[in-house]
Amino acid sequence: MSHLSTTLESVASRDPLRAAAVDTVKALALAVADIATLIRWPSGDVALGAASGSANADGDNQKALDVLADEMIQNALCKVPSVALYLSEEQDGAVPLHDSGTIIVASDPLDGSSNIDTNVSVGTIFSILPAVDGALQAGRNQIAAGFFVYGPQTTLLLTFGESIMAFQLDNDGQFYDMDWQVRIEPKTDEFAINASNMRQWQSDVAAYIADCLAGTNGPRRRNFNMRWVGSLVADAWRIFRRGGIFLYPADARSGYGAGRLRLVYEANPVAFLVEAAGGKAVDGNGPILDILPESLHARVPFIFGSANEVDEFMRYRP
Ligand code: AHG
Ligand code: MN
Ligand code: MN
Repeated sequence: MSHLSTTLESVASRDPLRAAAVDTVKALALAVADIATLIRWPSGDVALGAASGSANADGDNQKALDVLADEMIQNALCKVPSVALYLSEEQDGAVPLHDSGTIIVASDPLDGSSNIDTNVSVGTIFSILPAVDGALQAGRNQIAAGFFVYGPQTTLLLTFGESIMAFQLDNDGQFYDMDWQVRIEPKTDEFAINASNMRQWQSDVAAYIADCLAGTNGPRRRNFNMRWVGSLVADAWRIFRRGGIFLYPADARSGYGAGRLRLVYEANPVAFLVEAAGGKAVDGNGPILDILPESLHARVPFIFGSANEVDEFMRYRP
């Protein structure tokens, strides 16, 4: 298997922004190898899933690992002169790193925090944008995006907008190419949604899920399976592996009028990967990647996965 750096050599090419993004991915990979070690073998004095006593800008109570991962990611990016700004789920505003930087890195340093104590996969999500267009720009501008999953394997899905590359962490602390031609199956019989919110859903979402649940007795004339991990990266990795549709829609709960997931550092990077793999990613009206973020922590309804199934969901929209 070829090393991450070898696979990325061909990408760096003569495009200075892509070369800067390659340097960033390499720096993130080193930090993620350390985060993976911390998760797998936590030092006795740090309860990673314990409340840190603080909350982030989105009002989420920060777990110790949220704060630690954010520090480790920011420290890694400080070593990359091309990174002008760091945007983080765990920090209120943009963090200036290098005045002469040409790229912006947005990150969810630890995705799936509620799962830390349950030994379920969590991850680190990142989005790399040109600095020239400022912190709030449509996801279609991304130079590169990806996410790491800390699971039975520690893995990385990465794209520069064309194909998707998949890597796994080896015992030597290095990432190696999995030689997986990543494409999302256009058709699926599996949906992912937090069904406990059913009474809060808008009527189109409720009708779509009801028809999936009706199986062979209903209009879909086939049975569906359901999965919900509660870590976006884990649900997303499964969808890249075997297809599926993920839905975190807006719902009637206070604060969930635009769902739960954040556009800049969760939906945009995942949507960039999904479209590169032949899938679709929408907010219920149009492509995620065409939305201009109104603020750093803005939320967005997020439906993505197998293209035919996302199209089917859109047929239920009013
Ligand atoms: P984070 O831990 O970074 O806040 O992200 C959690 C997100 C996402 O990973 C997951 O899909 C979703 O929250 C789960 O939400 P519910 O707990 O409401 O199901
Ligand atoms: Mn997250
Ligand atoms: Mn997070």
